[in-house]
Amino acid sequence: CGALALAGRPENDHVDYQELLDAATAAARRTRGTGHVADYIPALARVDPDAFGMAIATVEGDVYGAGEWEQPFSIQSVSKLLTLTLVLAQGGDDVWQRVGREPSGNPFNSLVQLETEHGIPRNPFINAGAVVVTDRLHSLTGGHAAEAVLDFVRTESGNPDLAIDPEVAASEAEHGHRNAALAHFIASHGNLVNSVETVLTEYYAHCAIAASCRDLAQTGLVLARHGLRVDGSRLLSRSEAKRINAILLTCGTYDAAGEFAYRVGLPGKSGVGGGILAILPGQAAICAWGPALDPAGNSVAAVAALDAFTTLSGLSIF
Ligand code: DON
Repeated sequence: CGALALAGRPENDHVDYQELLDAATAAARRTRGTGHVADYIPALARVDPDAFGMAIATVEGDVYGAGEWEQPFSIQSVSKLLTLTLVLAQGGDDVWQRVGREPSGNPFNSLVQLETEHGIPRNPFINAGAVVVTDRLHSLTGGHAAEAVLDFVRTESGNPDLAIDPEVAASEAEHGHRNAALAHFIASHGNLVNSVETVLTEYYAHCAIAASCRDLAQTGLVLARHGLRVDGSRLLSRSEAKRINAILLTCGTYDAAGEFAYRVGLPGKSGVGGGILAILPGQAAICAWGPALDPAGNSVAAVAALDAFTTLSGLSIF
């Protein structure tokens, strides 16, 4: 792929996104056979581990795709980016008194730090932090946290058919002892406003939204456009968009955030459904999806694809 070795090229050169997507897809395919599909949510374990798709949406309004880029999958923790965005957009900055902004260095579903840190989760992108953010969003929306997230993805993607997969949400609720434990622990410190049951129901629901790489890339454009929505209205201030991207870089891929920054060099949010939504500020949003996960819960194929994309093109924040 000599023609693709563009690193070092001048900033505004023409970028052949389709060619880059094809090279990224080839890199993803080479990871076949590594990683495991998440099975702690039984309804997720039924997905083909070899599926792969990738989409790029540019701030100019172009969309490029490769593989199964229009196939819906369970967005899971990618929704944590959307809940935080909506909370900050609705003036919920006081959430920062209830959740931190530091990488945890621990697995996404860990409880250990909560005990010594008084029920204040390290950051909004681990499960504990996302539960607090969902609680805040639920209050801000008058009791419609998951619906607000779904509406947002529908509007930004222009896909009104998007929906929450009730089977996935029910499956997670049924096996959600770990999330119930951490939510109760947080509540014991007075850090939940709504009931544990309500917050978990909303949390499972927004995690269970089914959307494609195309839908998520188009939604992620809000952060690539420094806070502007698809209709040109402002959702976030430029500074808020910068801050969300910063937390995505440092905390978006859990205890592998250092490795992800090293390999990919973009802010990104992963989910155990195998999706990763990455932001190239000012330029594009990129979503890659492959269900087989590494031990940290990040998609092996999606990380490989994003690594190839930024390495071949030189398009990263660094
Ligand atoms: O709460 C959970 O465990 C899932 N609903 C989401 C976890 C997740 O996606 C972590 N991502 N890598």
